[in-house]
Amino acid sequence: MRPHLAALAGLSCALLSACSEGSSDDTDRVRAGQRVYAKECAACHGAQGEGGGPMSLHLDVVPPDLAGLKQRNDGYFPREFVSRFVVGQLAKDDPASPMPDFSAVGLRHVYPNGGADGEVLETDFANLLDYLEAIQW
Ligand code: HEC
Repeated sequence: MRPHLAALAGLSCALLSACSEGSSDDTDRVRAGQRVYAKECAACHGAQGEGGGPMSLHLDVVPPDLAGLKQRNDGYFPREFVSRFVVGQLAKDDPASPMPDFSAVGLRHVYPNGGADGEVLETDFANLLDYLEAIQW
């Protein structure tokens, strides 16, 4: 009986720690994404993705809010669209739009001295998308 109980206790501990690790990983990714957002997007899209950040004053177009992407897309966060849009793979409505093509300019505020390899950037973009998904209304 005893070994059986011990095994059971061990199993539930393993399950519990797996659960808590999973959720703190999610939080870490969202936090990391928030740092990328703050440096690369907030000036235009607002500190919390509400649109019209401080740099809007210098632009002809007001950068839209990014927290309402899900609401504007029938309640579904358009992850693929955002991901492609940010790296300039989608045609813009206005070719003169000030929205940067981040595949061309890179994350220059996160890495002012360069030095981020492709794998790092991929993680940064994935974290950024997790953050954007987390701030949807
Ligand atoms: C220099 C200002 C500027 C910066 C910096 C900027 N954007 Fe934009 N963004 C715009 C403008 C202006 C538009 C609207 C015009 C357009 O669609 O091109 C836009 C549009 C978008 C859209 C499309 C929104 C929609 O509802 O169709 C997404 C998604 C987006 N930006 C994401 C980002 C992300 C993520 C970052 C940071 C990595 C970022 N932008 C940085 C100015 C900016």
